[in-house]
Amino acid sequence: MIRRIAVLTSGGDAPGMNAALRAVVRTGIERGWEVFGVNHGYTGLIADDMAPLSRRDVGGIMGHGGTILGSARCPEFRTEEGRRKALAVLARRDIQALVVIGGNGSQGGAAAFSQMGFPVIGVASTIDNDLVGSDITIGVDTALNVVLEAVDRLKVTASSHQRAFLIEVMGRECGYLALMAGIAGGAEAIAVPEVETDPQEIADSIRVAYERGKPHAIIVVAEGARYNAAGLAAYFQAHAELGFDLRVTILGHVQRGGAPSAFDRLLATRLGAAAVERLAAGEHGVLIGWIKSEIAVTPLSQVVGRRKPLDVDLLQLAHILEK
Ligand code: F6P
Repeated sequence: MIRRIAVLTSGGDAPGMNAALRAVVRTGIERGWEVFGVNHGYTGLIADDMAPLSRRDVGGIMGHGGTILGSARCPEFRTEEGRRKALAVLARRDIQALVVIGGNGSQGGAAAFSQMGFPVIGVASTIDNDLVGSDITIGVDTALNVVLEAVDRLKVTASSHQRAFLIEVMGRECGYLALMAGIAGGAEAIAVPEVETDPQEIADSIRVAYERGKPHAIIVVAEGARYNAAGLAAYFQAHAELGFDLRVTILGHVQRGGAPSAFDRLLATRLGAAAVERLAAGEHGVLIGWIKSEIAVTPLSQVVGRRKPLDVDLLQLAHILEK
């Protein structure tokens, strides 16, 4: 019987984490549980840095990006010794279950912890959108809109000066943000890690755009692509004549901050509430995600060590549209 749970946010923060936390706390309290908020992810768990949260403690946080609990990447939790320390903390505090709001690495920790016998449930949250078990994860919509606004703005200044812009976006090994922002932003070229890029092909298409009189050229590249912004810029400088003058913008962490969109607040609220509901029903060792506009429950063992494939058909469409 659950009487007390803990919740933490882990890995790269994502807009909407606070809404998920609020939902976990309030639906947990509704069931008569005590809900402990763990500070700074698994690091805080190992260090026993946690406190009970009331309904009021999570009031007014929905519209804020980041996470009020703080987040961290915790190498110690990857070791069995680190996880044993965390188990001891949870036992001492008489906590029966743990909710982990986070992305791939964090759910890997959740899976390992679950295999040691502790009831854990994951909530899919990362701007990268690379998690198996969720069509879309908490934070993606907001991050994508931040990227898109940047692309639109850069296109304006590019047009004024007849320039080409290389815009690098986050996503680790996943090209989702680059692909979607490239399509929605009308980019002339897109480079993602999942598909081999020929830098000369990109250079040729930018040159053609220049010769056809386009006032700008936008190339959206994923940070994890073999040719990221630095790689492509170096290649162009050594081997290509684009016509356009070239500028490089690396968007970086600006993509992670910011107020969560309505979509992310609603998604996070549903996933957080579903995590509590499933725990109450006796389920654990699973990831709560969103597939085909419904809550989806996937065993963590099927989530870890995998990466959601990119929709390569969309990349083909982008190639047709960019000419
Ligand atoms: O996983 C989210 C993410 O923002 C990735 O897109 C990026 O590669 C990474 O985190 C950056 O990590 P950090 O914030 O630790 O520099």
